[in-house]
Amino acid sequence: MAIGFPKDFLWGGAVAANQCEGAYQEDGKGLSVQDVLPGGLVKDRTKVPTEDNLKLKGIDFYHQYKEDVKLFAEMGFKVFRTSIAWSRIFPKGDEALPNEKGLQFYDDLFDECLKYGIEPLVTVSHYEMPLYLSEQYDGFRNRKLIGFYENYCRAIFSRYKDKVKYWLTFNEINSLFHAPFMSAGINTPKSELIEKDFYQAAHYELVASALATKIGHELMPKAQIGCMVLGVTLYPLTPDPNDIILKMLRDRETYLFADIHVRGHYPKYILNYFEANDIKLDITQEDLDLLKHTVDFISFSYYSSSCATTHPELSESTGGNLIKGYKNPYVKASEWGWQIDPQGLRYTLNKLYDRYQLPLFIVENGLGAVDELVTTDDGTQTVVDDYRIEYLRAHLNEVKKAIQDGVEVMGYTSWGCIDIVSASTAQLKKRYGYIYVDRNDDGTGSLKRYKKKSFHWYKDVIATNGEKL
Ligand code: BG6
Repeated sequence: MAIGFPKDFLWGGAVAANQCEGAYQEDGKGLSVQDVLPGGLVKDRTKVPTEDNLKLKGIDFYHQYKEDVKLFAEMGFKVFRTSIAWSRIFPKGDEALPNEKGLQFYDDLFDECLKYGIEPLVTVSHYEMPLYLSEQYDGFRNRKLIGFYENYCRAIFSRYKDKVKYWLTFNEINSLFHAPFMSAGINTPKSELIEKDFYQAAHYELVASALATKIGHELMPKAQIGCMVLGVTLYPLTPDPNDIILKMLRDRETYLFADIHVRGHYPKYILNYFEANDIKLDITQEDLDLLKHTVDFISFSYYSSSCATTHPELSESTGGNLIKGYKNPYVKASEWGWQIDPQGLRYTLNKLYDRYQLPLFIVENGLGAVDELVTTDDGTQTVVDDYRIEYLRAHLNEVKKAIQDGVEVMGYTSWGCIDIVSASTAQLKKRYGYIYVDRNDDGTGSLKRYKKKSFHWYKDVIATNGEKL
């Protein structure tokens, strides 16, 4: 008999606080780096929040979460991934005491999830930190950030220790090389940073992540703490050995972060690279000891794959959220140019499991597309998103195959389970959800929620534990 999804497989969906909550100045929240990023990665940051920043209101999840969690429960979610907005808990980031109203909001949200038997999976920092820490300290370029992050972790771990079992320390930690402000709060313009600055900030983040894992295990013995990497899946464009070597080297840009989180030390390939390139970092013995606190599982995002090549004239560059590569002639692309490659997910799962033998959690996957709200014959308003169902079905089929290959997969939370503001382009018309939210790029809309066709499809998938895809 074919092996299917494990009985306790964690089915669910994922969002991030800054992309859905809105209420950017409510109940004592401070400004975060996202509040001054109206265009995601495609426009420069502003000095102060501006009206065109859709994230300031998001989908008003801060006020409507009860209705939304109820819809997640109706789909049968076992897990809901969200993040905590750091600036709700520490408005500036360097205060001694947390903001009680911010803490209370997440108490209420987690209680609402638990009421339906939905386990929260919480990202401690998902592409946002208090803006003050970025402007005053230059974010993770400064060692002091480790201490501020530690205080934040202590506050939320001790508060939610009986409610949250699954934690992720940083979203897509490897993204700081590509989006230093959004990912690591680095206020210095990217063009002024040298290679060493990126590795130094990465080191401080890795130490902060290890420290969170250590404290988390001490304060919450039953908790499972994971790292989260941007799953960059690359193929060599040609069999030219130069392309194979290039792919191997590019893969290490992602592996580096998982290697350290899982093995607890810097791999030799990067130490040699530092030496050869005269990159001297501030790394103390205490840091190295902290790095030994390793994670319980590895989580990653997977949307697309691309190619690496030393023959750029043979292809064109492709879209992608942060990391771009070359077009693969064998796969199609989304409306945003992200290459759709379900088999790449099976490959990624096998590749990570072969290397680490730790449980894997797919915490982001999905199709960003333009949806049209229509009225059916019986008067129901919905979106007939067969394209999304097709994308998700194909990917889940490959997850199933990876499980048959012997990979240990803990769960699957598809991205943007309810429509939210996109991260890279800050648009609302790029929708991922099972639930349509009536809000448009010009800020208009009633914020009403509608079930899409995929809502009913996913409900069935969960009910049959992936037997019926
Ligand atoms: C991931 C991020 O990289 O991609 C999410 O963790 C993001 O925050 C997701 O939303 C999809 O990207 P986008 O730009 O389509 O929202």
